Amino acid sequence: MMHPIRRLALIALILGARLGAQPAADKQPLAEQVFTNVQVLKGIPVSEFMGTMGFFSASLGLNCVFCHVPESLQDWKKFAEDVPRKRIARNMLAMVNTINKNNFGGRAVVTCYSCHHGNERPKSVPSLALQYGTPEEDPNEVEVPPQAVAGPSADQLLEKFVAASGGTRANHTSYSIRGTYEGYETYHQQVPFELWVKAPAQMATVVHTQNGASTTVYDGNQGWVASPNNPVMLLPMASGAESDGARLDAQLFFPSGIRQAPSQWRTGFPQTDVGDKDVQVMEGAGPARTRFKLYFDLETGLLLRQVRYVSTVVGTNPYQVDYADYRDVGGVKLPYQWTVTWTNGQSIWKVTEIQADAAVPAGRFAKPAPAVLTPAGNQAH
Ligand code: HEC
Ligand code: HEC
Repeated sequence: MMHPIRRLALIALILGARLGAQPAADKQPLAEQVFTNVQVLKGIPVSEFMGTMGFFSASLGLNCVFCHVPESLQDWKKFAEDVPRKRIARNMLAMVNTINKNNFGGRAVVTCYSCHHGNERPKSVPSLALQYGTPEEDPNEVEVPPQAVAGPSADQLLEKFVAASGGTRANHTSYSIRGTYEGYETYHQQVPFELWVKAPAQMATVVHTQNGASTTVYDGNQGWVASPNNPVMLLPMASGAESDGARLDAQLFFPSGIRQAPSQWRTGFPQTDVGDKDVQVMEGAGPARTRFKLYFDLETGLLLRQVRYVSTVVGTNPYQVDYADYRDVGGVKLPYQWTVTWTNGQSIWKVTEIQADAAVPAGRFAKPAPAVLTPAGNQAH
């Protein structure tokens, strides 16, 4: 029997082939061009559509197969089948749209999360434990209060970050990195990855998943994802949060560069903590106005967390990167581990080797070829 993920990838391959070459303008195909049973969420790019699915899952605190047949996890095509909960979800979508239209001028003020709050069934009786207990603070939810909190300016914070990272001592312009990756598409097993990054904002990663190489490239302007685990074998990054996010990820390797990047920096956040560390929060925005927050360790000045916000038609998804295990690389401090958490999954990147100023192979930041299913894939399973 063919391995589940392999079959999934094969379906993806067929889907990709049916789609044929990417559209000339390197724009993402729309959901209804890729999927077969889209009745409501039409007219949005594939990655935004997948973002709505992550938003549903996060809002109800459930995984994908709550609203889809279990076989979907092995076969993208099966997501098209309708089950009762999927129909309920469509009705809920209509209900939410009506609420927003009738009460909030059509703005997406009420979302699935407003009622569900991570529960399958919204609660209707207030909780006294909650009312009288000590609320647990989520540092991702911290915002600038109407009376901004006095504190260091954006310039001061960035200066501290640059100094802490060693950016005033050394100025590398590229890194070549190796390590291991684990995520849902690798069954949370560790597989090798390579990463190249070049100042000011180019980055390429190749993750060697069981189904073949999964390549992500951002050339400083636009990006692509060629993954055998996606429903399409080569997807241009959507302009907006996706490419803004890729740009920020690359820029963060060059702290002195990010200082110069125009970013509508904003401060005035109350102090909060990430884990057991006190942090100072600062907000910025990418070229496409993607909002992101940076969490600096109050003690060391190093970056502990990045949170960015990805809009979808049903609401906004948070995307979080936690940085850890900072080590010295030729005078600059870089994280040897980072964990990416978003509504569709979580992945852990562990670095084994970093070379500063290594020559980046020619064409490394060019548009990649569509992903190919590795014939020998999955022997390990
Ligand atoms: C709360 C219910 C719910 C959850 C949870 C959910 N989905 Fe969906 N999904 C839907 C609905 C509703 C549609 C149909 C949307 C439409 O008709 O516009 C859909 C459609 C899809 C489709 C398109 C299938 C096709 O070919 O037409 C895919 C793919 C999909 N979902 C993947 C996922 C994944 C992956 C997850 C988990 C991250 C997920 N879904 C979680 C409700 C859900
Ligand atoms: C105004 C409040 C509200 C909003 C907003 C809302 N829901 Fe619900 N939802 C409910 C309530 C209440 C129930 C439980 C109904 C019941 O018990 O019969 C429910 C039930 C559901 C169920 C069935 C759960 C089960 O146990 O089978 C699904 C699926 C669902 N909602 C999806 C969504 C999605 C997706 C969204 C966003 C598009 C959404 N809901 C937005 C109030 C809401």
